Amino acid sequence: MKFFIDTANLAQIKEAQDLGVLDGVTTNPSLMAKEGIKGQENILKHYVDICNIVTGDVSAEVIATDFDGMVKEGEALAKLHPRIVVKIPMIKEGVKAIKYFTEKGIKTNCTLVFSAGQALLAAKAGATYVSPFIGRLDDVSTDGLSLIEDIRVIYDNFGYETQILAASVRHPMHIIECAKIGADVATCPLSAITALLKHPLTDSGLAQFLADAKK
Ligand code: E4P
Repeated sequence: MKFFIDTANLAQIKEAQDLGVLDGVTTNPSLMAKEGIKGQENILKHYVDICNIVTGDVSAEVIATDFDGMVKEGEALAKLHPRIVVKIPMIKEGVKAIKYFTEKGIKTNCTLVFSAGQALLAAKAGATYVSPFIGRLDDVSTDGLSLIEDIRVIYDNFGYETQILAASVRHPMHIIECAKIGADVATCPLSAITALLKHPLTDSGLAQFLADAKK
């Protein structure tokens, strides 16, 4: 399973890249705002800065909600760097835009997906990635992981190549469950990735080995 980091924070992206396990980055307008990135020019420059740190795909989200606007914005984003994936919301105009970009050979990430039906539409439009938001489903007492399972079955039934990008991942168990049920990618905060490292028996075992090595 691929690991993407879900942030626009350059230091965290670099830390994950340096760990050697990072396959890409996802951002969204809220994550950009959190870093204080404002104004079109600064936003575009920030995407290029991210692309220059990582070696995998970098999702950059359009703000427009009409077809023409999404195409204009998406084409400008795609021109920034070969690693850019145009992130498009799961709305009617978005499905048309995904189809348009697919035919042009531009990679897309269909975002804000909360149902299997939406995921099916994204795959039919040719999205490179589909982003089911599992944490936000959990937040409203719906099982986010079972959505991933449903999408996996549907995509495997018909051989859709759209990659399931589990999004809104909140903790390490989400990552482990996503890997068990066959998500292609999990996009996670750095804290969830580094939490995978931790086990008290590793810490106590290492302390013992180091103590014994001095004997
Ligand atoms: C996905 O691409 C989104 O950026 C993200 O995973 C949303 O996560 P949140 O629900 O924690 O905001």
